[in-house]
Order: sequence, then structure tokens, then C-alpha cells
Amino acid sequence: MEKKWWHKSVVYQIYPRSFMDSNQDGIGDLNGIIEKLDYLKLLGIDVIWLSPVYKSPNDDNGYDISDYCDIMEEFGTMEDMDRLISEANDKGIKIVMDLVVNHTSDEHPWFIESRKSKDNPYREYYVWRDPVQNAEPNGLQSVFSGSAWEFDEETGQYFLHLFSKRQPDLNWENPKVHEEVYNMMNFWLDKGIGGFRMDVIDLIGKLPDQEITGNGPKLHQYLQEMNAKTFGNHDVLTVGETWGATPEIAKLYSDPERNELSMVFQFEHISLDQQEGKEKWDLKPLNLLDLKAVFNKWQTQLDGKAWNSLFWNNHDLPRIVSRWGNDQEYRKESAKMLATILHLMQGTPYIYQGEEIGMTNVRFDKITDYDDIETRNMYHDRISKGYSHEEIMESIYTKGRDNARTPMQWSESEHGGFTSGTPWLSLNPNFKEINVAESIKDQSSIFHHYRKLIELRKQFPVIVYGSFDMLAEDDENVFAYSRELEDEKLLIVANFTSNKTTFQFTEQYEDATILLTNYEASGVQLDSINLRPYEAIVYKIKL
Ligand code: NOJ
Repeated sequence: MEKKWWHKSVVYQIYPRSFMDSNQDGIGDLNGIIEKLDYLKLLGIDVIWLSPVYKSPNDDNGYDISDYCDIMEEFGTMEDMDRLISEANDKGIKIVMDLVVNHTSDEHPWFIESRKSKDNPYREYYVWRDPVQNAEPNGLQSVFSGSAWEFDEETGQYFLHLFSKRQPDLNWENPKVHEEVYNMMNFWLDKGIGGFRMDVIDLIGKLPDQEITGNGPKLHQYLQEMNAKTFGNHDVLTVGETWGATPEIAKLYSDPERNELSMVFQFEHISLDQQEGKEKWDLKPLNLLDLKAVFNKWQTQLDGKAWNSLFWNNHDLPRIVSRWGNDQEYRKESAKMLATILHLMQGTPYIYQGEEIGMTNVRFDKITDYDDIETRNMYHDRISKGYSHEEIMESIYTKGRDNARTPMQWSESEHGGFTSGTPWLSLNPNFKEINVAESIKDQSSIFHHYRKLIELRKQFPVIVYGSFDMLAEDDENVFAYSRELEDEKLLIVANFTSNKTTFQFTEQYEDATILLTNYEASGVQLDSINLRPYEAIVYKIKL
């Protein structure tokens, strides 16, 4: 496979609202990000994926865009944005923009026009249907609860919204929509950005009348066209958000021969702690064997054919240390263990803000303390369906999106140094112990472990391009694998539990050194090793 710069890059996702507030209005902003570029440089990342900063009424915190070529007032101005791109570029950091083109805000001028009349020139920019027997055209459901169809009195038709009713879906069957989107993408590419993260891109080929939403028949045709008309002749990173992707589907998107995207986010691993066929709120404990099987499948099936993205976290997911680690007694050990096993696989790692200091899930008392539209809608929907308050809150504590969205914890000072105003969402009260200032000072912190993992990726091509072999597939406690490239081999052995365990090697290794661990002294002898809770060891073997 042809080598690409993003094969060896590490991406850091910023959720601007919660990153750093420079003007004390309680909301993070672009100048706040500029202030923190040196921090990101110290961590060693190469790319920032910036969650949406465009003009938006914020029904879904910027994922409802009312002007793609303007900046949200609370975040700053286009001059600030240009400065962010150029100052980041000067430091060797590329900015990847979030491309949200499955839907717009209902305040986008196209939709304002579209809803005016059936013969408005913008009518066909969105998906409008007549009622069927005085009701919704069909049973399509919104991801944010309830029907995906909203009735509009003005013209007596329903419009489609797969997310909130303030996020009407664009009609990709209309070629004019393609043209508008491509012009907008070129506007951003001309500014020197490093690429696009594409929001729910698997939905743009939908066929609403057949109730097909993901992976519609024309999806790949649209992406090839988008590639040809926009980023195809720029050396950029593109990553699609594709919830239902299997390795087969991922290869359609990211086989370099097909000229679509660099890679996709697949969510198979992330869905393993929900009951089969149910919603993410319907919890079940993770089985480590399932997790290993999923990674094994993706690592081996994409090798040499397409490219993996590697992530535990984003702005929609709970904090990994609370989810599959231990955010109490073994917070540091488990956060480092999880980082180690993820970062040393093949693919481009993504770090979500705060993950690098081991930020944890939050537990607010009341539903009104939560901001997230998905969480609030689900709460009211489930209350009306007879679920108990306690049961719903447990789901929110485990899976709610605000777990990821509490402001970044920079220091132990008021509001964690995020703002001296009133933060738009309360901080996690643990900011006094868990914060950036403390993490930088402490050489054994989670932060410095992430920094070393990033350094290792730059140093060892085996991490970027080596083959992958899962070891001890049936071990219920240990996550272990090897990577191999020419005369270099790495062995990664990790205890995924809070109990001690042992691990038996099946091969003999002569020349082994330890590259990285999360405990002070770990065993070098490679026959049988005793692993402490969440212990992770990376061995380098000379072949
Ligand atoms: C996926 C985004 O990651 C999420 O935050 C958003 O709510 C939906 N797409 C709708 O844009």
C-alpha cells in the first residue's frame, strides 16, 4: 500500500465548546484553542479534528449548521479561524474540519426557503413527503427518539430528520445539493485545512421511502464524486463516521484504489456493551473475548487493503477509563493499559480531549443538569414508557454523551482553569485531582504515557506498518498481541482486569527488552509472567 502521512499521525479531537474559554463567557472558543497549541505540541499530536465551529443555533451543539462558511459567534470570527489554521500549520499540526452534510439546521437559509412553499426553488434540497392516512409517511425513527418525520403546517407535508427536528436531512438525490456541498468543501480546502471528518456519512445515500438509511445504493458513487470534485487532488486525511460498517464495508470506503476516503470510524468494538438489537442505553457488561475478537477481525482483514482508525473515545461516547477501565483505585494503571493496547495496533489513533489525562464520567443529580439533546429526549421518552428514574439515570451515567463534554480540566483552580465565567456545563468535580497542570508535573502520569506512545509510533515503523497477531485469544483476562516488520517484533501484553493474573508465552524469545510499562518494574523474562491489576508491558524482540 502506498505510504501516506496520516498512516503515522496521531489525531487529537477537540470539542471546542468544552476545550478552553479565552473570553470568560463560559464557552470554549477558537482563541482558547490557539492558546493551547503548545500543550498539544508537547503531547506530540499531528492533527486536530475540530468538532463543528460553524454558525449554529446549537440545538445539537454545532452539529446543526446554519452557515457552513461562517463561524459560531461564541467561538470567534473567521479571522480567528484563519489564525488557528495558520498557527497550527506553523507548528506542524493540521486542522481537520467536521463536515456535517447529512443535515443542516432548520435555521439554514436553504431550509428557511425550502419550507416556504412546495414550488420554492429550495424545496428539493430537503426530503418532503405527503402524509399517509393523515399520519407520518412511514415508520422511520429519529436517532434522538420519536418519529423521523415532522409535520409542517405551512405546506401540509412532512420533512425528514434522522436526528433532532431542528436538523432536517438534506436531499442527496438532488444534484444541486452535491454542488453546494462541494463548493463549500473547496472553500475550506482553499484555506489550507488538513482534511475532513465526515459526520454520519453513511446516511447520505438514504432511500427514505424504502426505510433505507445507512449504506444506500448510491452512497459510494456520491463519495467517489465528492473525492473527484473536492479533496481528491489535495493530500488530506478524510475519515467517515460509519456506524454500521463491517470490514467488508470499510474496504469499500477506504481501499485506496476506489478513491473514496482515507479511513472510517467503525463502531463494532464500541457497541459490545449494549444488549443485542437494542439501544445503547440497554446495558450489558463487556466480555473481553468479544472485544479481542472484534479487534482481531479488523486488524487482520484491513491489513494491506484499507486503513483502520483506532479510538476509544469521542464527544458521543462515555470516558473509556470509566467504561472499561477502573476510574477509582486503578485509574492511572487502567487508563495507561487501555491507551497502550489501542495505540500499538495498526491504524491512525484518535485521542479525545481529556482522555490523555484520564478524565472520567460524571454523575449529575438531576436530568436538568444535563445539556445533551439525545440524553434529555431519551429520558422523557423512557419515563413516558414506564422506565424508572433510577434505571434511566444509570444508563445516562454509563453512556450519556455529556460524560465526554464536561469542560477540559486544566488546573485545580476555579472551574478547572477552563473559564473564570460560568461554564456552560458544570465541570466534573474531580478536577482538583485530575487536571493538566498536575499531569504535566508528574512524570508517571497518564499524560506522559500517551506522550511516550506517540513517540514510539514515530520511532518504530513496526507500529505503523507491522503485521498483527492476536495471542491467547481464549484468555479471559489478558489482551496480548504481537506486531512484526522485517527484523523487528513487538509483544504487547496487558491484564484487562483488577485482579492479578499470569500469562504464559508459547514461543521462546532470546533478545527481549522492555519499551514501555505502566508499573515501575515489570518482568523481562519471557516464559511465564505475573501481571498486576491492569499491568501492560510492551516488549521489543530482536529477530
Ligand atoms: C454524529 C455526531 O458525532 C453527533 O454528535 C451528532 O449528534 C450526530 N452525528 C448528528 O450530527
